[in-house]
Amino acid sequence: MKLFRLAAAAALAVATVGLSAAAANPSIENAVRARKAQMQLYAFNLGVIGAMAQGNATYDAATAQSAADNLVALASLSKTIQWPAGSHVGAAADTRALPALWENLDDFATKYAALGAGAAAMQAAAGGGLDGVKAAMGGLAGACSACHQSYRQPQ
Ligand code: HEC
Repeated sequence: MKLFRLAAAAALAVATVGLSAAAANPSIENAVRARKAQMQLYAFNLGVIGAMAQGNATYDAATAQSAADNLVALASLSKTIQWPAGSHVGAAADTRALPALWENLDDFATKYAALGAGAAAMQAAAGGGLDGVKAAMGGLAGACSACHQSYRQPQ
């Protein structure tokens, strides 16, 4: 019982530290949450198309088109307000964004532009058949991993 109380006190202490870090700069915490939510939406929509490209789902033109349209819309969101200075690993909680991102903002923008181009190519191809989807997949998925390799901390 005593051990349990000790463990509970330790857990509470950890939780309190976490809370005070978040309270210190809620706008940064919110920006981190928002960009991760955006990334999850990329992953969902890419997954819908990827399943078709890999033969794990039946190709459906309307579904592929919707997912590609979503990717284009998502890639057009602001690249700045969700990536405030001081929101990198070590400075903010619950992020895997590396400090190198803020030291190479031009390159980050270039890599984001590559995602926009990859999504636009997929948008043009998505409704026109599985072959076109497969052909556009490499450029699109490659844009995701190129940026992750440079600016996302491996798990
Ligand atoms: C220009 C850079 C860039 C591009 C392009 C990019 N990402 Fe990311 N992504 C990141 C960074 C940086 C993080 C870490 C964000 C953080 O933890 O604050 C991340 C995180 C993620 C995560 C984890 C989110 C979470 O909840 O922790 C997923 C999933 C993801 N990206 C998927 C994708 C997919 C799919 C694409 C392409 C369709 C993509 N990303 C394109 C930079 C990028």
